Amino acid sequence: KNIDNLCFKSQSKHNTSSVAVKSEIAQRKDQTDTIAERNPFYVLQEERLEQAERSVLINCPPKTNEKKFLKHLSSHGEINTCFFYESFGTYALVEFSKKESIASLQEGTIIPSIQHEATVPFKSRLVSLKLNNPGDLSSVPSSIQCLRQSAIPINELVQRLSGADTIDQQLYTLTETYQLTEDNVRLRFLVCSLLKDIAAAYFPECTVKLFGSSVNGFGKLGCDLDMFLDLDGISGRKSKKTAGPFTLEYQMKRVSSERAATQKILSVIGECIDQFGPGCVGVQKILNARCPLVRFAHQPSGFQCDLTANNRIAIKSSELLYLYGSLDARVRALVFTVRCWARAHAITSSIPGAWITNFSLAMMVIFFLQKRDPPIIPTLDQLKGLAGPTDKQLIEGHDCTFVSNINRINTTENTETLEQLLKEFFEFYGNFSFSKMSINIRKGKEQSKPDVSPLHIQNPFEQPLNVSKNVNQTQLERFVSLARDSAWILQQDGMSHPLGAGAQPWGLAALLLPSASQTGGKGKKRRKREPASERIKSLLESLKNNKPNSANGNGRR
Ligand code: CTP
Ligand code: MG
Repeated sequence: KNIDNLCFKSQSKHNTSSVAVKSEIAQRKDQTDTIAERNPFYVLQEERLEQAERSVLINCPPKTNEKKFLKHLSSHGEINTCFFYESFGTYALVEFSKKESIASLQEGTIIPSIQHEATVPFKSRLVSLKLNNPGDLSSVPSSIQCLRQSAIPINELVQRLSGADTIDQQLYTLTETYQLTEDNVRLRFLVCSLLKDIAAAYFPECTVKLFGSSVNGFGKLGCDLDMFLDLDGISGRKSKKTAGPFTLEYQMKRVSSERAATQKILSVIGECIDQFGPGCVGVQKILNARCPLVRFAHQPSGFQCDLTANNRIAIKSSELLYLYGSLDARVRALVFTVRCWARAHAITSSIPGAWITNFSLAMMVIFFLQKRDPPIIPTLDQLKGLAGPTDKQLIEGHDCTFVSNINRINTTENTETLEQLLKEFFEFYGNFSFSKMSINIRKGKEQSKPDVSPLHIQNPFEQPLNVSKNVNQTQLERFVSLARDSAWILQQDGMSHPLGAGAQPWGLAALLLPSASQTGGKGKKRRKREPASERIKSLLESLKNNKPNSANGNGRR
């Protein structure tokens, strides 16, 4: 009862200042609107990070009464959003309207008293809700509805896809089913912001940014969290000497190279995450990698996290993918589909190794779409040509300039359906000259391979690098063979339409079923597939003989 009274008091106190809050939000919006004209990708990041700073993560007992919980929390101020999910217990992400509410909540939060152990008194925005009088609340049936934060299993997806009417609809359904949800994105930015609090103990002006599939528009529920510790604000790159006779300069440790500095910083931050970071487990410091990183699992969110530093080019490639994904709905649908297809057939894996990565697959889809006639998306050089003065960016000697304003890019006249594109994608890569050619999205043209790596995809910004250097011949061959199989399956009669209630999976759903090569290549299974292989051979023969009319985009432009 006391708690309730408190809530009402603070809420009414809060209400009196709501006009001020509104004008603050309007002001903030004005500011961001002007940034939005400059670069929507960064505005999105800034807005999300700002939201995250006003948020907390609360571990709740299983039978928490949502209404009472919210009432209790609103004693710290107005709540914008709250949702529950499961990850090693029930958690609530609570976003307040104002940052001050966090301070108020933390002020009222106590340090746990533990009998046989001790605690590291690092206060974070990850807290636990304790029932003062367990008998009281636990008698109330749980009213919490938990939102799912992981993708549905593939067999459920296959069923869902079988219920669609067209292959195009299947691709869009897959995208909608797998893409990150609004609350999952909030959770991702909150974890990023919690990490910033740890790093800020040493570097108060640092920011931690998200890149990779969490922000590039191609993220699937459950994908890893790629973070980047940005110390640019304190690196002095932008500071100038003051006028007058003197300038004060910080005394700082000197190290042999930028890389050595990055390794030292990540080593210490990694240690802090390991020793003080609540919920962070399995911390590994992988400092000798080309791009040094700290890898760990964040249990309260369930995310596998990679923290890097000094990695601004990767943010640019995330921005580029985001831009491509925003240009035409078919881009995201095809990338999601190809990624899902690759995962279903174990062409990609969550374990690092010689497998093709999701990033490489996105590059391959982009390249394929650039090669359509007419092209569905422009080349990176064309995007560079459209750049305005504020888009110019040189990072570590690499030209990362490209247009950020989507309105400057003409929409495509290509009207191909996703069904056509999916078929042609498989045919294109089923016949691509991987042994001689490199994939280059900057030029939108294949080029002679500069080295002997089986799969060569030029890094769009660091041009001497191969994005898929890790891929070996066996994995590339598996990709090509599955692409050919899938092209063949889609050519079969009845594959373009549902076959009636209770019938076999068709279209995209059929492509996601396990293949013979994946089921271990045992004699029995192989034999079953032989007729298919024969027909694929003849299909390929006909493709070869028909080169000018075929789907082989190599000769198209
Ligand atoms: N990256 C890169 N070159 C590589 C690998 C990765 O530039 N050879 C950058 C890309 O910007 C990529 C990001 O690092 O988006 C994160 O890499 P990764 O997590 O492997 O890929 P994601 O795009 O995040 O895809 P996933 O869903 O598999 O995590
Ligand atoms: Mg990733």
